[in-house]
Amino acid sequence: MQKYDISDKTIIITGANSGIGKAASLQLAQAGATVVMACRSPERGAQAVEDVRKTANSSRVELMLVDMSSQASIRQFAEKFLAQYPRLDVLIHNAANFDHRQKKPALTPDGSETVFATNHLGPFLMTHLLLDRLKASAPSRVITVASKGLMTYPFLDIEFDNLDGKKKFSMQHAYYHSKQAQVMFTFDLARRLEGAGVTVNCVRVGNVAIPDERLDHLPKWMLKMYEAKRKFALTPEKMAETYTWLAADPSLETVTGGYWDAPDVAARANKNAGNRETQERLWEVSAGLTHIENHQGESNDHHSN
Ligand SMILES: NC(=O)c1ccc[n+]([C@@H]2O[C@H](COP(=O)([O-])OP(=O)(O)OC[C@H]3O[C@@H](n4cnc5c(N)ncnc54)[C@H](OP(=O)(O)O)[C@@H]3O)[C@@H](O)[C@H]2O)c1
Repeated sequence: MQKYDISDKTIIITGANSGIGKAASLQLAQAGATVVMACRSPERGAQAVEDVRKTANSSRVELMLVDMSSQASIRQFAEKFLAQYPRLDVLIHNAANFDHRQKKPALTPDGSETVFATNHLGPFLMTHLLLDRLKASAPSRVITVASKGLMTYPFLDIEFDNLDGKKKFSMQHAYYHSKQAQVMFTFDLARRLEGAGVTVNCVRVGNVAIPDERLDHLPKWMLKMYEAKRKFALTPEKMAETYTWLAADPSLETVTGGYWDAPDVAARANKNAGNRETQERLWEVSAGLTHIENHQGESNDHHSN
């Protein structure tokens, strides 16, 4: 992997205690960045921070707690971060809910379906709360995470009449729907932030090995499926290189609105992801559900182009 020096950068990465998020935290810390590992579990988070600090030989790795399914938690996190850190150079939305044991829709305390709340509304809200700091730190970057599995849903669109999952629900569908929303959010936000010095890019994560300890609770048939998938899987470290490239490579300072499989390898999004009308409706609905009033990030001319 290319070596970077980003010792002047402060980076937040969510879901940083496991898998790709932890591997990326390590790579970014090794490149010298101040890394805020945003995790929901104090125990798993503290252990991961200790591991990363030790392996990277860096004291500039911190734990901050956040539950991405809870708007109150995200607001608390943002408030604390803004009070503690004068700059934010890169915000990486890596955390995601894909618990295949869940058979029925569950609502968060905010009243949103949990998968959509964690994987889309959470990143939407956190980005808005931190946007002024990102702008003040420009050139800065937002990185979102989607999934290669979206290729098996070529016609997937935002289901505005089923955001709560009450009409129909399966974890797989809810997960890919939330990832499709992240792709649309990426494209829309990139356009709205043109000229603001904040880029927005999305990683299309492929088949990446999930650590054993995270699979313990799964039924046997599901373990078998994961074992079969693992034969062809990338390591979290390999996939994290794309996060690190997007976060650190100087050549990407003005590259925005991209969708990436790997460093320098662009991916093509599903057709519906480019639909401006749906993007804008998704933005409005997400702003309503997260109680964002001033619609930060909205460019002056986004209605005219
Ligand atoms: N692995 C793959 O094959 C694959 C394929 C396509 C896309 N992806 C995407 O890649 C990203 C990383 O996944 P991974 O493979 O590294 O999986 P992972 O090892 O299971 O990591 C997921 C992380 O998200 C965190 N998380 C889940 N819900 C959260 C919440 N409500 N608040 C805060 N953190 C939460 C988890 O924390 P806890 O420890 O607290 O659960 C964990 O740290 C995800 O966005 C995923 O959708 C992965």
